[in-house]
Amino acid sequence: MTGAHSLLTDASIGATHVLLWGARAAVEIRCPGPGVLRVRHAPSSAVTSFTHPEQPPKHSFAVVADGALPLSARREGDTLHVSAEGASLEVSLAAGTWIFSDAEGRALARSEAVSGQVRPAFPVDELRSRLSLAAPPGEAYLGFGEKVGPLDKRGLRFTFWNTDAFPPHVESDPLYASIPFFIALRGGVAWGLFLDEPWRSEVDIALNDPTRIEWESRGPELDVYLLAGPHPADVLRRYAALTGRPAMPPLWSLGAHQSRWGYETEDDVRGVVRGYRSRGLPLDVVHLDIDYMDAYRVWTWDRSRFPDPARLARELAAEGVKLVTIVDPGIKADEGYAVYDEARARDYLVRLPRGGPLVGEVWPDPAVFPDLTREEVQRWWGDLQKPFVDAGIAGIWNDMNEPACFSVRPDRGLPAPSGGRTAGLGAIEGSTLPDDARHGARRHLEVHNVYGLGMSRATHEGLARHAPERRPFVLTRAAFAGIQRYAAVWTGDFASNFTHLEASIPMLIGLGLSGVPFVGADIPGFTGRANGELLVRWMQAGLFYPLMRNHAARGRPAQEPWRFGEPYLGLARAALERRYRLLPALYTLMHEAAETGIPVLRPLSFAAPGDPEALHAFDQLLFGGDLLVAPVVRPGQSKRLVYLPAGAWMDFANLERAGSVEQGGRHVIADAPLGVVPVWLRAGGAVALTAPRMHTTSASWEEITWHVHAAERVSGRLYEDEGDGHGASRVTRVEGGLDGATFALERSATGDLPLAREVETIRVHGVPAPRSVVGARSRRAIDGGVEVEVAADWQRIELQLS
Ligand code: GLC
Repeated sequence: MTGAHSLLTDASIGATHVLLWGARAAVEIRCPGPGVLRVRHAPSSAVTSFTHPEQPPKHSFAVVADGALPLSARREGDTLHVSAEGASLEVSLAAGTWIFSDAEGRALARSEAVSGQVRPAFPVDELRSRLSLAAPPGEAYLGFGEKVGPLDKRGLRFTFWNTDAFPPHVESDPLYASIPFFIALRGGVAWGLFLDEPWRSEVDIALNDPTRIEWESRGPELDVYLLAGPHPADVLRRYAALTGRPAMPPLWSLGAHQSRWGYETEDDVRGVVRGYRSRGLPLDVVHLDIDYMDAYRVWTWDRSRFPDPARLARELAAEGVKLVTIVDPGIKADEGYAVYDEARARDYLVRLPRGGPLVGEVWPDPAVFPDLTREEVQRWWGDLQKPFVDAGIAGIWNDMNEPACFSVRPDRGLPAPSGGRTAGLGAIEGSTLPDDARHGARRHLEVHNVYGLGMSRATHEGLARHAPERRPFVLTRAAFAGIQRYAAVWTGDFASNFTHLEASIPMLIGLGLSGVPFVGADIPGFTGRANGELLVRWMQAGLFYPLMRNHAARGRPAQEPWRFGEPYLGLARAALERRYRLLPALYTLMHEAAETGIPVLRPLSFAAPGDPEALHAFDQLLFGGDLLVAPVVRPGQSKRLVYLPAGAWMDFANLERAGSVEQGGRHVIADAPLGVVPVWLRAGGAVALTAPRMHTTSASWEEITWHVHAAERVSGRLYEDEGDGHGASRVTRVEGGLDGATFALERSATGDLPLAREVETIRVHGVPAPRSVVGARSRRAIDGGVEVEVAADWQRIELQLS
């Protein structure tokens, strides 16, 4: 079909796929959904059948979309043009390189030959494959999962290898989760790339060569998905359609969580709940760390310290508090212990390359590892939690699931040096299992990064099976692309210092930009020693984290909100109360995330994709579309520099002040003494808040106040349901705006959930005192606006402004 020196010499073109191949390499192109192309690069040895050539089917752990939209292909000289709905690809047959364009014909991504070599773009051999992409000047790269650094990762290099990084530092890489996906942004236009390879890989983002991104995988192929924008939200929508929409969590899991490695007895737990309630502090969840287990045997209780978990769960339920237990994958190798005996008998364990189960050391020692990458093992594991569900345990916290393994026998006691070789076991990277350990027919090197995903899936699906009337809550440390279907992710063992507080913001936004909306970091850091100021500042930032959990390491000073005395306790209470006021807005955003994949925490670039200042403001965030939050993340500060993107923004500090309106597109200095978290409300924004409570009950709110920043166009949304389960729901929309001297707002609602309130309050900010108000029961002047009370099923209000 083309010259002898071409990489791709043959083609097979079907209705929904194009396969190109030559002596060394093959490329298969498919369209799994609008605006998305799959370009699977493989060695040509992988192409099967001469008469109907195709690449063998592949099991993806991440991708759930199974659509195949029609493709059309046309050849012009050395180029094959492939087009599909919303995207097209131009492949150079000689070089095997391609250009990806969107529906408007904008060239978004370009693959290249590997730098400095006259080699095809994706040399493939048994051990490595490489992708080289153009990195045009000024293009920013966001996402890559749980990664350090600012939002734009240009100039950094990352490894995808889930790692128990202890203690993690602000420059540590890799960390616990690997999501080989990024969103590129140039001139306000976004596109995305997902490398569906669980194998260990490394990406160099224009560091080694400022004009290229180079991605190298230890696996034999490169399964690349290219996603069109043009807005970053469009890329995320397509990514969620591909890898699965986030699970909608129960409301209680959005309340405050308290945890500590070191709640050793039932009485410790009761004391924590008493500590909260006696000080009037909101709380929904207590986590039990590994202390509850019988000698670290997973799925057991130490009955001398936790004699009756079901009774404890009932007692706590009376205070509105739920219990979540930690579960680690390592199984104590201990004959007579049912979980171990069964796993062995059923051949469910990770094995040595030759011979029996691999034995290592984690908290249990010796320990073996269930092969949670296999579906039958996942199902078994998910069923092991039934007694926990029956005892009233509300959710499961999956830890050490990289999987962490401190040492592998026969080298017990000697941590395997990173990249080292251990007698008879081959290479081990970090504290985990050897590359050559066996997961059924697969090597550990291939499935290491999806072990935590498999464990979370087992947990999530097990909870759904054993408590079908509830929505599962699973928290995980290790993750891979697709984890959003099953679990929330927290950032592991952050230290109690301001540097890690600051680092949490771009990292959590980065996770959201990698498809994972339900995220949090330990407040106020896990290791080290926090002080009262750090606690307060971290809670002020953390009240906007989708997961708000206070957690502390064993042997470190206790960090519950009352451990630092006043004024910190009072300020911590205020932060918790703000969190509970925010719940209707947070719940609505989680629901939006579950429907679309668009995260709760967003970079400022969402509001201003073409504005470089917005991109670089990485210690600020957008909470949904309407609130801009700039928490203080440095010690001793009472003011901070804030970038406001274009538009008008009302000072809404602490979610209560109705302050001055600033024009954006510039920096402002916010007043932020210790009691203040700077927040702004976007002109046109309408956010529903409620009154603080000691714990959640239902997301059918009895009290709702809409905070509206008047503009020509205003819109807001509120999602409500019972807070758990799969029953009735309601979506309320408010729409309207300023028209001359009139400000009008209309409400419409869909869904079958009855209203739980009689009235609603609407605070319209940014308008002069109205001459008359139509549609309200009462009105009251507030600073820079008016507050009206309306019947809960109001239809329309109209303010005549003088
Ligand atoms: C790991 C977890 C931490 C937990 C500890 C003990 O370090 O990251 O959250 O407290 O193990 O289980």
